[in-house]
Amino acid sequence: MAINIAIDGPAGAGKSSTAKLAAKALGYIYVDTGALYRTVGLYSIRKGIDTRDAEKVIATLPDIRVELKFVDGSQHVFLNGEDVSEAIRTPEASMGASNVSAIPKVREFLFELQRSIAAENNCIMDGRDIGTVVLPNADVKIFLTASPEERAKRRYKEMIEKGQEADYDEILSDINKRDYQDSHREIAPLKQAEDAVLFDNGNYNLESGAEELLRIIREQLKK
Ligand code: DC
Repeated sequence: MAINIAIDGPAGAGKSSTAKLAAKALGYIYVDTGALYRTVGLYSIRKGIDTRDAEKVIATLPDIRVELKFVDGSQHVFLNGEDVSEAIRTPEASMGASNVSAIPKVREFLFELQRSIAAENNCIMDGRDIGTVVLPNADVKIFLTASPEERAKRRYKEMIEKGQEADYDEILSDINKRDYQDSHREIAPLKQAEDAVLFDNGNYNLESGAEELLRIIREQLKK
């Protein structure tokens, strides 16, 4: 049986970067499920559809084929055969993903793909409802978080380093808005699973955060 580690938590807490390093150390694949919601959102955005319009978004699903491929341990997401791993990383796609992820039919649409990857691979799967809904029997569950201010600070730094324009207040308000949306939706809201270990990543840098994450995973796997 494949070993499954579920990591949930809000946007920008450092889930993906720390989980990627931990997965590498364990020799597991790292699965970023947010990319799937981003891909569904991107399709609607490209078609000029309002991502809050559930009916219209649902009508696009039969035209969408989402696939994940792992190249040298790194995840690529494909939309109808096109590698959209870069295209899904815009602020517009982030908001679109948050909108479409609140639509139950979209979640159903992506459910099987996530489950089958976890069944076939030792993996760290990162998302919002992995420990609560997608993999309720995961071997280890972690809720990884950090304060909104700390997350906004990191995001600001990241954007400046990439040479992008960044406004701290705007980033913070975006984070608060997305947190609210993600944790107050009716279906699969972001919340810590009862049997998840809480990890506040706020005071760690990337390497020490990944080490701590790895320590928690190894400790939990022994239980
Ligand atoms: O992790 P991310 O920022 O790439 O996720 C994009 C959006 O998708 C985010 O607003 C929450 C949503 N999401 C979700 O509802 N369930 C998941 N398992 C992963 C992401």
